[in-house]
Amino acid sequence: MHKIPVGVFGASGYAGRELCGLLANHPHFSLAFATANAQRGERAFIGGSEVRFIATDDAPLRGAELVFSALPHGASATWVERAQEHGARVVDLSSDLRPGHTSLDIPYGLTEVNRAVLSGAEVIANPGCYPTAILLSLLPLLEGGLLREDSTIVVDAASGVTGAGNSPKPELLFGEVTENYRAYGVGNEHRHLPEMRALVHRHTSAVDLLFTPHLLPVARGILATVTVQLNAPLADPLALWQSRFAGEPFVEVTDALPTLRDVQHRNVVRMTVRQAAQVRTPTLILLSAIDNLVKGAAGQAIQNANVSFGFNETAGLPR
Ligand SMILES: NC(=O)c1ccc[n+]([C@@H]2O[C@H](COP(=O)([O-])OP(=O)(O)OC[C@H]3O[C@@H](n4cnc5c(N)ncnc54)[C@H](OP(=O)(O)O)[C@@H]3O)[C@@H](O)[C@H]2O)c1
Repeated sequence: MHKIPVGVFGASGYAGRELCGLLANHPHFSLAFATANAQRGERAFIGGSEVRFIATDDAPLRGAELVFSALPHGASATWVERAQEHGARVVDLSSDLRPGHTSLDIPYGLTEVNRAVLSGAEVIANPGCYPTAILLSLLPLLEGGLLREDSTIVVDAASGVTGAGNSPKPELLFGEVTENYRAYGVGNEHRHLPEMRALVHRHTSAVDLLFTPHLLPVARGILATVTVQLNAPLADPLALWQSRFAGEPFVEVTDALPTLRDVQHRNVVRMTVRQAAQVRTPTLILLSAIDNLVKGAAGQAIQNANVSFGFNETAGLPR
């Protein structure tokens, strides 16, 4: 059967390697080229076969019908444009084309929200890893208009170290990360805030968002704890999430508290909700877990490409 030839920019990075691995098992896509920067010319064993990294300048763009860009933010937008000029559809994993980062109106690939506009889309801005976990957990409250006016959504979230990419940094050395736990980006200025605010404010401009990320001493996974105040208490909060996500192939609403182990290497977001006791204002605690490299990056990117091309949304994705 004819498979659609696919290129991956930034294939030697964490997200790019994950993409190559998933593409190796995809029924409709096959890897046509894989690019790298410092690692150009090198080979890596990914998804059961050897992948050779070429320089981005040497990418045979004419041969690709679909390109994933897993380049760093700032470097990606130019290459997305070049791939489009050569006729390829593009899913950009960087923040360059996400809401709040560009004035262009690019479909935002939070699949469970934007399926209709992603179908047939020529270019898609894949969401950030934290926003995927956080926004999906908030969705039933946003769509239902249930958040308390003038309240603040408080998010504490922790990610494994692959979330920071594979370029060497002293603070990411094994000796610094192992048996340790710390916050970073403190002060509500993280690069993921603009896209989260854009989606929240599409529903209500009367709430603020306060986000503090943390670094976990594990390779992959994100756990987000989201505290929200409501206009009125909900009798059965879990039922609201179960009903909103009924039939969603990659959303697991569970009574149990989600853990990283539940979601690692899977293209799922797993979430629950609890009422907060002994507070004066009705308050919910939402917990949401994803694998930052799968549902938070490469898996969701392939999910979006499946939707764009009209394939089964679950094709080639681990559940
Ligand atoms: N990691 C995650 O959990 C995650 C989740 C969601 C979205 N993302 C986004 O996905 C993108 C890739 O993230 P990552 O974590 O995979 O980063 P990474 O591990 O640092 O990989 C970056 C890739 O881009 C290449 N590259 C770097 N600078 C380049 C340049 N100037 N021109 C051409 N190629 C260049 C690198 O090549 P060499 O390795 O050869 O230098 C590597 O292949 C980023 O935009 C990131 O924000 C990442």
